[in-house]
Amino acid sequence: MNTSMSHVVDVIAGDGIGQEVTPAAVRCIDVLAVRHGFDVTWRDRPWGSDYFRKHGRMMPVDGIEQLSDGDAIFLGAVGTPDIPDVETLWGLLIPIRREFLQYINLRPVRVLPGVTSPLRADKQVDLVIVRENVEGEYSEVGGRLYRGLPEEMAVQESVFTRAGISRAAAYAVDLARSRSGRLTSATKSNGIIHTMPFWDEVVAVIAGGAGVEVDKELIDALAARVVLRPESLDVIVASNLFGDILSDLAGAVAGSIGVAPSANLNPPKDHPSMFEPVHGSAPDIAGKGVANPVGQMWAGAMMLEHLGQASAAADLTAAFETVLASGTRTRDLGGTATTEEFTSAVVAALA
Ligand SMILES: NC(=O)c1ccc[n+]([C@@H]2O[C@H](COP(=O)([O-])OP(=O)(O)OC[C@H]3O[C@@H](n4cnc5c(N)ncnc54)[C@H](O)[C@@H]3O)[C@@H](O)[C@H]2O)c1
Repeated sequence: MNTSMSHVVDVIAGDGIGQEVTPAAVRCIDVLAVRHGFDVTWRDRPWGSDYFRKHGRMMPVDGIEQLSDGDAIFLGAVGTPDIPDVETLWGLLIPIRREFLQYINLRPVRVLPGVTSPLRADKQVDLVIVRENVEGEYSEVGGRLYRGLPEEMAVQESVFTRAGISRAAAYAVDLARSRSGRLTSATKSNGIIHTMPFWDEVVAVIAGGAGVEVDKELIDALAARVVLRPESLDVIVASNLFGDILSDLAGAVAGSIGVAPSANLNPPKDHPSMFEPVHGSAPDIAGKGVANPVGQMWAGAMMLEHLGQASAAADLTAAFETVLASGTRTRDLGGTATTEEFTSAVVAALA
């Protein structure tokens, strides 16, 4: 990991609006680099669905190796209607997450200025979801039998390891300690009788004596609580599947999928971490220049923080919050600004 003022970042803009929001965020980071006196070398990786159409794969055979000496990966989105999601996801995103042991998926959720939550105005939403990112329900263990026959069947195994749960819980405990000291663990130990009681046990061991207040809540009740009492939540730790669903729900509660960021972290920094918006390639609006770049910019701020550029990160979040508060918004937030207009306003706010 490079700890100097020079950073090498691989950019995979990918598909659809990834091609629009990624350059917008890169533009802001370039402005910040000049202002804060650091240097970013962007390595453009033209991987994704077009690459798949030409080469039959989402990235080169040695793609992981090419990324391995970078400091971070900045991803837009992948996915296109004419290629099965299983190819786009398992051909790029999931291998990167797993090969680089990005075992934490971090998703902050906050109602930004100028963004209207579908909840009542008096509800505070400011929470972080720590999702286990490399095992659990999204395992590769399983298979299909008797394809095409009436007896056809599918088996999908969940894989939970003590090491995997422990490191996710430890990360969440540290984060909770740096915030309000409250941690909620998502479980389903009443219905899923092997893996979830194990999850609960390991989380309890890691959190025991760590000075945080831990509550565990069944995922169904927790989903309702995100909507009804989001102010009672701060840091949530969840398995891969529960964290995935909960973070989209929480993102919706915060007003728009277009503003939500996520970080796929390898906390020991043995490998590059990857930063991306929560949203996908949005084929319905791709190419129209109207995508909201805030999710990508916020992901960029998380990346700057990870690279040790905390004050640049803070400047970037402050800049897009100022622009949103001033009333400049993209269509998904009820405004009329194009991606370009919104980005120029952020660049102006940075200057
Ligand atoms: N990490 C990823 O790369 C990722 C994540 C989710 C979905 N996908 C893929 O993206 C493709 C489309 O998926 P989807 O339609 O379910 O989800 P999506 O997030 O792409 O779009 C859902 C809806 O939200 C809107 N939206 C999303 N981001 C927006 C933004 N920045 N500004 C304005 N509006 C925005 C879209 O227009 C659409 O109506 C699929 O192929 C899917 O697999 C990829």
